[in-house]
Amino acid sequence: MRRIRVDPAAPDPAAIREAAGILRDGGLVAFPTETVYGLGANALDAAAVRRIFDVKGRPRYNPLIVHVPDEAHAAALAREWPSEARRLAAKFWPGPLTLVVRKLETIPDEVSAGLSTVGIRVPAHPVALALLREVDLPLAAPSANPFASISPTTGAHVEAGLGHRVELLLDAGPTPIGIESAVVDLTGHSPVLLRPGSIPAERLAEVAGALDLNVVHEAEDEPRLAPGMLRRHYAPKGAVRLFSEADRALAGADVEAARAEGQRVGALLLAPFDTELDHPILMPRDAVAYARQLYAALHTLDREQCDLILIEQVSETPEWRGVRDRLSRAGAERT
Ligand code: TXA
Ligand code: MG
Repeated sequence: MRRIRVDPAAPDPAAIREAAGILRDGGLVAFPTETVYGLGANALDAAAVRRIFDVKGRPRYNPLIVHVPDEAHAAALAREWPSEARRLAAKFWPGPLTLVVRKLETIPDEVSAGLSTVGIRVPAHPVALALLREVDLPLAAPSANPFASISPTTGAHVEAGLGHRVELLLDAGPTPIGIESAVVDLTGHSPVLLRPGSIPAERLAEVAGALDLNVVHEAEDEPRLAPGMLRRHYAPKGAVRLFSEADRALAGADVEAARAEGQRVGALLLAPFDTELDHPILMPRDAVAYARQLYAALHTLDREQCDLILIEQVSETPEWRGVRDRLSRAGAERT
């Protein structure tokens, strides 16, 4: 894989042209967005889109998000562009919000996993926007990681996970937000939040007029609306255990027992821990900063080969919803 380092604010036009050329020829390019790195292909080229699934080891029933440079390009892919879409796009695009709308036939079934709908977003990263404008094609792009593992927030994460299978990586350093976009389905009676992100659901609800937050988590082996809804997702290799502040003493006893058996124990903590750990990581107490560091911290504990990862539960307040969602998925039982 070629890895070109680019300035996140002002990427070299030659690098962007090279990436666009690869995409036009049906190749794959990993590129930064404001949330996580994406693995991009021409969304109108079914064969290129199938390569995304092969490279990620992703089940075909998981639809992909299509990235476009502005709202007009998004509306041009949709059968209808509802008033909620207009309001949400006006307020939050470019930004970490994906809108699910009814799709036109021009979007291949591979992108939407056979659904009649498509998820679309306008990313807020200068590199992603420069690439979208240069290539002049909609780009299907899931997070640039092997299926069900931790999303990449640095170029090094992409290289470690998919390096040998992707032609080109545009490496612009760490992504500013750190968790994936919020996904809102606009195809039903009223808008539904399929995946929480960094924009508080309450703000989305204000602009959309209403927002159903009660996502049903489906069984792992059924076709589903949203791969982000898989119960166990975004997970490190070690066993994850969530604990609340009240359970600190109990968690300490678990750590001692695990280490006595020779296990390596890591943790994401909100305050220092009394019991000795192999790899404690003190996380920020601010939700925005926590989200930015979360996946890098989990990648680190994977690299440190932790057998057990303790994660201290974060606050129940609205601004933590996106982080809470990712933590509960990382901690879900393997099935
Ligand atoms: O922030 C992000 O969204 C990143 C960057 C690269 O844009 N992308 C991302 O893609 O997280 P991925 O493939 O890892 O997650 C895809 C999500 C699913 O969880 C699902 O909620 C939604 O996109 N999705 C896509 N198409 C959909 C559709 N037709 N109906 C419902 N959900 C859809
Ligand atoms: Mg993903």
